[in-house]
Amino acid sequence: MKTSLIILAAGKGTRMNSDLPKVLHPIATEPMLVHAMAAGATLDPEHTVVVAGHGAGQVGAVARGYDETATVVVQEEQLGTAHAVDQARAALKDFDGTAIVLYGDTPFVSPDTLERMMGAAEGSDVVVLGFDARDPGRYGRLVLDGNELERIVEYKDATEAERAITLCNSGVVACKASLLFDLIAGVGNDNASREYYLTDIVALARSRGLSATAVTCAEAETLGVNSRAQLAEAEAAFQARARAALIENGVAFQAPDTVFLARDTVIGRDTRIEPNVVFGPGVTVESGATIRAFSHLEGCHVSRGAVVGPYARLRPGAELSENARVGNFVEIKNAVISEGAKVNHLSYIGDAFVGASANIGAGTITCNYDGVMKHHTHIGAHSFIGSNTMLVAPVHIGDGAMTGSGSVITSDVDEDALALARAPQVEKAGMARKLMEMLRAKKAKQQRSS
Ligand code: UD1
Ligand code: CA
Repeated sequence: MKTSLIILAAGKGTRMNSDLPKVLHPIATEPMLVHAMAAGATLDPEHTVVVAGHGAGQVGAVARGYDETATVVVQEEQLGTAHAVDQARAALKDFDGTAIVLYGDTPFVSPDTLERMMGAAEGSDVVVLGFDARDPGRYGRLVLDGNELERIVEYKDATEAERAITLCNSGVVACKASLLFDLIAGVGNDNASREYYLTDIVALARSRGLSATAVTCAEAETLGVNSRAQLAEAEAAFQARARAALIENGVAFQAPDTVFLARDTVIGRDTRIEPNVVFGPGVTVESGATIRAFSHLEGCHVSRGAVVGPYARLRPGAELSENARVGNFVEIKNAVISEGAKVNHLSYIGDAFVGASANIGAGTITCNYDGVMKHHTHIGAHSFIGSNTMLVAPVHIGDGAMTGSGSVITSDVDEDALALARAPQVEKAGMARKLMEMLRAKKAKQQRSS
């Protein structure tokens, strides 16, 4: 079935007490809006329409950053959820499939639940996602009539009897797009909030003899974020689920509660993760790798058998091949570390290629930035870079070459050559003792005169 997404993201989120639009607050390092878009993307939508309002420029940029084909429409005034959906009318005027409405501040609705809603939409005109709330609070209530959904009543407008209903509205709706916009045209704002309620489309559909039904999901999926406290709860819930899923898939954590994962972290089985490791977006770790304590990884790939850390930092574009080793206080950015190569101590390797089995000595730095441009360093296979070598890029070190410790390498080194680029050592006999005597005498003189 053809699908399009309408993602509501215009709200200000006053209770966040923040300059950042609510939907851009991150969970697992990515904006909530991206979580909602990613869940919706699993339906392979024809169109994704993001309804922005507060901070529309920023919200639009994030939406298009995730999906450059997304359409961003602006709801100038937030007159209610039906009015928000109506902003997508023009963008979907030629679309003849099913529209799914999601909220940008409700990041955990699962792809499986969305699939079930699409399935239900084949047999029912309006499908609403409900959940049994432990504490129904101020959610809209789903009023059922047997298996049919009769209407949704907002808390503010509900009677005592209706408030006793625990089946609540998540806000997610699936409906044929043309019908959705038809129904919305009939929604008024004669209610306690003077808002145009999307929820009214259920009763409108029923009054026209159309069918409506509720699909239900776990309450955890419908968790909405309205405050910093709820954002922190959402983060904790996400982390707990993500860790549990990886453990289930065979990843070994020594202290799972101390490891923080991103929305899209992928880790293969039998990989060991030591305590206090942080994953940013875009990390894949193959099976059988080891990520040692206090390492930070983002936008990188770690192959089978590689060992990272402790205290390593892998930045975007770091690519570790099988059995590569990146040790303590080493930073890797936009660089390939080939099979079996070692960068074990206190180094910065950026914009570089390190060949197979190369050994990078402690304190080696690729001087990749001249203040204006970045330059590339090539370090050949089986080469040996002496400790504290400065590799001033662009520079090419041939296979099997060596550099002497402390060298500042500014020109290419041929394969199998040894390059020494440091001042030759001079030795002055007895000079150390003489120098110390001189200094001590000077200090004694100063103390006498004060
Ligand atoms: C809405 C539902 C309620 C449901 C609850 C679930 C309606 C009338 N009520 O209530 O039944 O239980 O969500 O969380 O739909 N938004 C806009 N533009 C607007 C208004 C809202 O983009 O003009 C966006 C908000 O940014 C938010 C979402 O729509 O992402 C929901 O709006 P909100 O005002 O939070 O609705 P609730 O009162 O919570
Ligand atoms: Ca809300």
